[in-house]
Amino acid sequence: MAASSEIHVLQSGNVLTDEQLLASYAVADRTMPWLRANFVSSIDGAATHEGTSGGLGTEADGRVFALLRRLADVIVVGAGTVRQEGYRNLALDDDAVAWRTSNGLSAQPPFALVSASLRIEPDDLATYATRPFVITTQSAPAEARARLEAVAEVIVAGDEQVDTVELKRTLAERGYPQQHGEGGPTLFATMIGQGVVDELCLTVSPRLEGGSARRIVDAAEATPQAMSLAHVLSAADGTLLLRYVRASQNSEH
Ligand SMILES: NC(=O)c1ccc[n+]([C@@H]2O[C@H](COP(=O)([O-])OP(=O)(O)OC[C@H]3O[C@@H](n4cnc5c(N)ncnc54)[C@H](OP(=O)(O)O)[C@@H]3O)[C@@H](O)[C@H]2O)c1
Repeated sequence: MAASSEIHVLQSGNVLTDEQLLASYAVADRTMPWLRANFVSSIDGAATHEGTSGGLGTEADGRVFALLRRLADVIVVGAGTVRQEGYRNLALDDDAVAWRTSNGLSAQPPFALVSASLRIEPDDLATYATRPFVITTQSAPAEARARLEAVAEVIVAGDEQVDTVELKRTLAERGYPQQHGEGGPTLFATMIGQGVVDELCLTVSPRLEGGSARRIVDAAEATPQAMSLAHVLSAADGTLLLRYVRASQNSEH
């Protein structure tokens, strides 16, 4: 076993195809519930540039992000990210659909939007390729819930706040064990605090952002969790693609 002070050369020079990239993110058993969070950050820890993550993204990040959506049974995202990033007209492209169907997956993974307030526009959800889920609480406003039920399947998981343990279990029980968490920082904080994060794919974008941008997680209390490095990939522009998995489960990958 290598000493942890050993340091290795990162750039091997091998260029990966989409198939090789997909294989490098594959899990051992797709039927087991698995929550993969995916974020991009600047080198100095900013999760946004001028209010969205898009300004931090690089070509390599966009490519892997699209491939990870391709591997997902369901895409989980907080309502703040939906509102800020404008999640509309969401559909995987033809290549992704062809790959998914030839690998026994549904053509399009549904989106699952997490919201307590239900401040979500039904018209926006109606533009998605598949009927989305809205994951909400017992105390969510009844009128907003009724409007959303016309375009989405509304699932209650929690009283005042969505319980992400219940969210993960409920989606897995409905046939969506492979869950791609796209943030944002508030939802990710709850997921870390409730111990449901199995993996973090973190892109480090080769830039310093400065300013007062938020981190990828926004919580009042620290809830540390050890993670193991599964791989590091890099692109010519200096983008780093880090894959970490829950420490106790690293041996399965
Ligand atoms: N760097 C990246 O990779 C990345 C990724 C994603 C987002 N972002 C950025 O993050 C910012 C948005 O941050 P955010 O913290 O607002 O994102 P968020 O976590 O997506 O949204 C927070 C909202 O989601 C709902 N929510 C989250 N957790 C909940 C829970 N446990 N129970 C019930 N509702 C829950 C609530 O919606 P309601 O208010 O409707 O109740 C809450 O106000 C944007 O600027 C976005 O660009 C960056």
